[in-house]
Amino acid sequence: MTTHSLLLLPGDGIGPEVMTEVERVVAFFNKKGKAKFKTETDVVGGAAIDKHGVPLTAGALAKAQAADAVIFGAVGGPKWDKVAYDKRPEGGLLALRKELDLFANLRPAICYPALAEASSLKREHVEGLDILILRELTGGTYFGEPKEIVTLEDGQKRAVDTTVYTTREIERIARVAFDLARKRRNKVHSAEKRNVMKTGVLWNEVVTATHAREAKDVELHHILADACAMQLVRNPKQFDVIVCDNLFGDMLSDEAAMLTGSIGMLPSASLGAPDPKTGKRKALYEPVHGSAPDIAGKGLANPIAAIASYAMALRYSCGLAKEADLIDKAIANTLARGLRTADILQPNMRKVGTAEMGQAILEEIEKLAAA
Ligand code: IPM
Ligand code: MG
Repeated sequence: MTTHSLLLLPGDGIGPEVMTEVERVVAFFNKKGKAKFKTETDVVGGAAIDKHGVPLTAGALAKAQAADAVIFGAVGGPKWDKVAYDKRPEGGLLALRKELDLFANLRPAICYPALAEASSLKREHVEGLDILILRELTGGTYFGEPKEIVTLEDGQKRAVDTTVYTTREIERIARVAFDLARKRRNKVHSAEKRNVMKTGVLWNEVVTATHAREAKDVELHHILADACAMQLVRNPKQFDVIVCDNLFGDMLSDEAAMLTGSIGMLPSASLGAPDPKTGKRKALYEPVHGSAPDIAGKGLANPIAAIASYAMALRYSCGLAKEADLIDKAIANTLARGLRTADILQPNMRKVGTAEMGQAILEEIEKLAAA
């Protein structure tokens, strides 16, 4: 039996609460599944700052490098607002992305039928929605240099962020977009700002060339990133895969998240390039929702995004697609039974907390696995 190693990094805010529910699902598969999971846990973000003075220790990074997959909770919160910029909690997550070279960030936005009413858009626009935002994750504005605030001679300050992309960086993310589209509805929208940004001009050129060379079988559209934001709330079902740079992907994925009813629903996968020898990719899986400090520690958080992130780990890192489908089905069934955490609460539904939602999903998993 294969053993997969998982590094659990619960982090801050609601991270530890939702991770507890993930651990229960992992324990179930360890007991009943056809693979084993060896888990290790470490601190990251504010929790690591409190314990070690840095948001990610060298030890935790080494464990992440060695693991088959990292399962991440969330980082940040008001407690660390005054921490120096280079030591802030988010730095732990950004360092993991960069050091593991996790350039491809998959953020699926799926609207479960039971949740179509919870979306801020009308049912007809979101029912059956299944889109995938593919965000470039290790380049662009997040990591470009210079990135600084300098004081000018007259005492004013000047802040600079730099957006940089190379041909190779754009090519490799475009390739992932085309590969993913082939397994879906075969359509890619590439979003950039070629009308204003040089990186947009290059992005457009390289995506076009990669498509012509390697992916003529896939339908490709170019769209300006602002127009894409607009179309996402106007007619989201026109999209299949949207590929974009790091900063646009950050924003478009939050927007897409809300189409599904709640940001508490969205899992994500961040993948590296396949190792030339083993074919394995470094990988980190995390809910898109963040640390939600306002509800942390109250048992109110929605654990669905975290559990669905573990399902993505099964699919993309462990070769366990059937088990991943089973978890997704269990989530859909639980929602269909009318259980709702506060973020997706609707009239006549049963309000539950984090643990109760986790327990209900686990019971559905057990049922489906036994069937
Ligand atoms: C995300 C988050 C992060 C980002 C933060 C926590 C650094 O918003 O994963 O979307 O901006 O990438
Ligand atoms: Mg974000």
